[in-house]
Amino acid sequence: MKNISVQPAGGRLGVLVVGLSGAVSTTFIIGTLAARKGLAKPIGSITQLSYLKVGKGEDKREGLIKDLVPLAKLDQLVFGGWDIFPDSVYDGAVHAQVLNEKDINLVADEIKAIKPMKGCFDPDFITRLNGTWVKDNSATKWELMEQLRADIRQFKADNKCDRIVVIWAASTEAYLPMGDVHMSLDKFVAEMKKPGTKLVAPSMCYAYAAMMEGAPFINGAPALTVDFPAMWELADKTGCPICGKDYKSGQTMMKTVLAPAFHTRMLGLAGWFSTNILGNRDGEVLDDPASFKTKEVSKLSVIDSILEPEKYPDLYGDVYHKVRINYYPPRNDNKEAWDNIDIFGWMGYPMQIKVNFLCRDSILAAPLALDLVLLADLARRCGMKGIQKWLSFYFKSPMHKLDEVPVHSLFEQDAMFRNKLREIIGEEPYDYSE
Ligand SMILES: NC(=O)c1ccc[n+]([C@@H]2O[C@H](COP(=O)([O-])OP(=O)(O)OC[C@H]3O[C@@H](n4cnc5c(N)ncnc54)[C@H](O)[C@@H]3O)[C@@H](O)[C@H]2O)c1
Repeated sequence: MKNISVQPAGGRLGVLVVGLSGAVSTTFIIGTLAARKGLAKPIGSITQLSYLKVGKGEDKREGLIKDLVPLAKLDQLVFGGWDIFPDSVYDGAVHAQVLNEKDINLVADEIKAIKPMKGCFDPDFITRLNGTWVKDNSATKWELMEQLRADIRQFKADNKCDRIVVIWAASTEAYLPMGDVHMSLDKFVAEMKKPGTKLVAPSMCYAYAAMMEGAPFINGAPALTVDFPAMWELADKTGCPICGKDYKSGQTMMKTVLAPAFHTRMLGLAGWFSTNILGNRDGEVLDDPASFKTKEVSKLSVIDSILEPEKYPDLYGDVYHKVRINYYPPRNDNKEAWDNIDIFGWMGYPMQIKVNFLCRDSILAAPLALDLVLLADLARRCGMKGIQKWLSFYFKSPMHKLDEVPVHSLFEQDAMFRNKLREIIGEEPYDYSE
């Protein structure tokens, strides 16, 4: 086993959130600030609450991940970021209506002071929003990226941060397929410098700027953003960890639990119909067919690699998989997801499973954002650059190289994640049968 040397986690860790005033971001920041004051429990955060088993034979033991693994502590985090509206984290949280007033007020003074820097925005990528707090859109994407770099440097200096992590929790951009300009860094840079290009999304400018400033980049939405060869090349060159795409929070989390169960028991699957109603701003953006397409691709991708239809054509060769998202304002952030699953068993007899998940989107996503920030910073301090496959656990469409198959099963992802943590702290993979 090779030893990973880990730089210490000391100092202040700047967390720059893209989409700072949105539902996920404000819920993440308020919960983290409240948790570090001991006023709330970080429920759903694996880094804060989960135990890790380590050792062999007589030496088997376990401890909290946050005690065993050299992660930054919550009181080292300093929050900032960008949005296309000028609302502070306080105003954004009031608008999002995820948390009630009592909980928002636990940290009111701190969050009133966290205000966004002007966002890098191109209305063609998010047609449903009319950003008012934006950088000059007549600049090229390259110039906008340079402005974002300057923002990062300024924030780092103003807040005396030792390190920065950038996390995307902004709206889902319109679908943009990977094309020739995304295949190499040279071609991509040339494209960024072309006025008016529609092949470079704003999210790509943030990711590029982050890496140029030595910061890991996390993509919590399903857009292309940092998931193409030019960006992988940049990550390699700058030594930055990157990960994504799309937080695996509710319906897809359930899907990646149930599909491995069918596969493990060799039960067949005829169809899976997933539908959602949600009424927050995310739902409004996803009501646009171009943004929905990005989300649909992400949500549809999960079951194939779990079920292996090419190996088991009798069981999974003809699965009808459909995903729908409907914007329904009365529900706000309290999404309702229905899954109808048609399975079949012995001699082909059909059965049905219905899952009705009345979830709170941002309550599920916030702890994932916290974990990802701490783990991406850890990866950076371990010198782990490029795609962080061990963080697949957190994403609907885990990033992978073009010739690789992603791991979607939550259980396999959990094993990968925990073994990487063990490797980082110099422990062997855990043997459960011993
Ligand atoms: N909540 C979940 O469970 C969940 C799960 C997976 C993925 N996501 C994704 O996370 C993202 C955030 O979700 P949300 O519910 O917080 O949405 P939201 O609409 O409440 O917040 C998004 C924020 O991003 C801002 N924004 C848009 N474009 C921007 C840009 N170019 N630069 C800076 N800011 C920009 C918006 O003004 C808004 O404040 C979405 O892409 C969503 O699909 C959410």
